[in-house]
Amino acid sequence: MLDVSGARLLVALGAALLAACAGNGEGLDANGQPLGSASGTPPLAADFQSIQDNVFTPVCVRCHSGAGAPQGLQLDAAHSYALLVGVPSNEEPSLLRVKPGVPDSSYIVLKLEGSSGIVGAQMPFGGPPLPQSTIDVIRQWISDGAASGPMAGAAAARFAVTATFPEGEALVAPPLARIVVAFSHELDASLINDTTVHLERLGSGAPEPAGALSLRLAEGNPRALLIIPRGTLAAGSYRLTLRGSGGGALADVNARALGSDYVSEFIVDITP
Ligand code: HEC
Repeated sequence: MLDVSGARLLVALGAALLAACAGNGEGLDANGQPLGSASGTPPLAADFQSIQDNVFTPVCVRCHSGAGAPQGLQLDAAHSYALLVGVPSNEEPSLLRVKPGVPDSSYIVLKLEGSSGIVGAQMPFGGPPLPQSTIDVIRQWISDGAASGPMAGAAAARFAVTATFPEGEALVAPPLARIVVAFSHELDASLINDTTVHLERLGSGAPEPAGALSLRLAEGNPRALLIIPRGTLAAGSYRLTLRGSGGGALADVNARALGSDYVSEFIVDITP
């Protein structure tokens, strides 16, 4: 049987261990399970909103946010879906970050599991790794098709741009592998061409040469437009224009046009 000082020591040790867990497992509880961002977050389930609230927001966003997010991957709620699903990895461009239906070929899964094929470190960077049970829920969501879940009512009503990467006025480091534009509805892919999507380098006098961009919808994610420069974008200021009115304007699958042009400018340069 323990004497009083022995029991105190155990209590102190237990507290120290718990404190240590809380310290290096930010966003994880004492069992290594992700905590909700706020108390009252429903437990982790294999749907996108739940993964956002239980994993991306509490564990990943402290690094993966803003214009300087690692590999251009912003995992905050406004960007994560558009930048994950059907979008090629920066580190391993032959793989999609999330390939709907195929978790084994989804780079995010390889990064979370620390697979041998990855470039760079296992995520979360600096550890501890997510519990396999958490990764399995992400795998399940991907196996099920990586659906986005219901859209917030107000945003869903109008066809509009909901997010861009880079964000407007952002300063991003070269090389910029791609521009991603997320919309509130599925795009009509037949309207995506160099008369509706235009990237111009400001000050250079000339627009980017025709054919310099590859334009397509993200695989399995028809609300995200990928604009991929065939070469690297030289340092400079850029203006992206999406034509939203007139004949052949960008529209959703129900023929609702954007209504007006969408213009966003950003800068590619070495960040200070
Ligand atoms: C402490 C900072 C940090 C945290 C926390 C973090 N990451 Fe990362 N992440 C990085 C850095 C730095 C890189 C690039 C270097 C590397 O891959 O090792 C990266 C790269 C990635 C990539 C590769 C992107 C691409 O396009 O190739 C993925 C995917 C990724 N992280 C997912 C996650 C997920 C999911 C989480 C949360 C579970 C997470 N990261 C948490 C810092 C972090």
